Amino acid sequence: MIPIVDLKDQYQSIRKEVIEAVTGVMDSCQFILGAETKKLEQEVEAYTGSKYAVAVGNGTDAILLTLKAYGIKQGDAVITSTFTYYATAGAIARCGARPVFCDIDPKTYNISPEGLKKLVKDGKQGLEIKAVIPVDLYGEIADMDEILAIAKECNLKVIEDAAQAFGAEYKGKKAGSFGDAGCFSFYPGKNLGAYGDAGMVVTTEESLADLLRVYRNQGNKVKYHHIVIGHNSRMDAIQAAILRVKLQYIDKWNSKRRAIAKFYDEKLKGLDIVTPFVSKDKTHIYHLYVIRFKDKEQKDNVKKLLYEEGVDARTYYPIPLHLQDCFKYLGYRKGDFPEAEKASEETLAIPIYPELTEKQQGFIVDTIKRSIGK
Ligand SMILES: Cc1ncc(COP(=O)(O)O)c(C=O)c1O
Repeated sequence: MIPIVDLKDQYQSIRKEVIEAVTGVMDSCQFILGAETKKLEQEVEAYTGSKYAVAVGNGTDAILLTLKAYGIKQGDAVITSTFTYYATAGAIARCGARPVFCDIDPKTYNISPEGLKKLVKDGKQGLEIKAVIPVDLYGEIADMDEILAIAKECNLKVIEDAAQAFGAEYKGKKAGSFGDAGCFSFYPGKNLGAYGDAGMVVTTEESLADLLRVYRNQGNKVKYHHIVIGHNSRMDAIQAAILRVKLQYIDKWNSKRRAIAKFYDEKLKGLDIVTPFVSKDKTHIYHLYVIRFKDKEQKDNVKKLLYEEGVDARTYYPIPLHLQDCFKYLGYRKGDFPEAEKASEETLAIPIYPELTEKQQGFIVDTIKRSIGK
């Protein structure tokens, strides 16, 4: 079986360093936050060019705590893409605000700046739109210049969900560093993945970073003085130590992903399959390599043959968020966001990870070609 992501070979390649790093934490007996987490925060600050980094328990909390630290609450609205992982919109609902969904640009699968402009202009009856959360879907940064311009005009906070895009660039700037805050997930399957849950917020605002440190630690400013209703969302030191090892390899691994993407791009050219679009000023990190077929039937057939041949290919995301049961109360209907709905039917992610061999890549391409009769 060729899985959609395989963590085993990568672990073997860094096993010695990881074990040393974990042993260091065990010997220090400093298991929560502590020196390792502080060092990781400093390294991520340097890597992303952000002034402050705050390590938290997971990527979902990175978004949720940022919304809370900005005082976003019931009666407020926050715009995000309907074509993203649940966690982005779940965090909006969990802070009490109303998620307002936006359609995607069918070329990039990221939030459509035109759609955003329209939503902001229309307003949301009785609710104040406080923020927008663009998602750097699949590892490509959203159209940040346009999004930031719209947000500035309307005084919206921009919280970049960079969970899938560690190391991606737009005009030479790193993912996470565009808006008021950037949120990362270090879930094991991410391109920079811990060996458990972990997440981080980066920002240039000192006051936000200070408040996030309070929110992640039970609302404590000083021990036993709780100034807000906080969470228990502290990164554990073992995850920080592992991430520090992996951070040294991230550029090499991201380049490897790009090389595999280039191979796929070339081999799938001229087959009536849409390969990922990357504009000239962006550097994709291909957390996922997503291709698009002429219709759902063709996509399903390819997926089926790949599966029969031992290749795990998946659709991210098969049900856009506006059609999820948990968001029924928002009153959206099928047809509200046609681009996202079409993408959810016609797209398929095929395996991509740095250790995927040339033979495996070739086999995946040949199987796709066979399925569509080429
Ligand atoms: C776009 C996006 N946002 C948020 C998250 C949430 O991150 P986590 O699983 O670390 O909570 C994820 C990953 O799962 C994601 O892909």
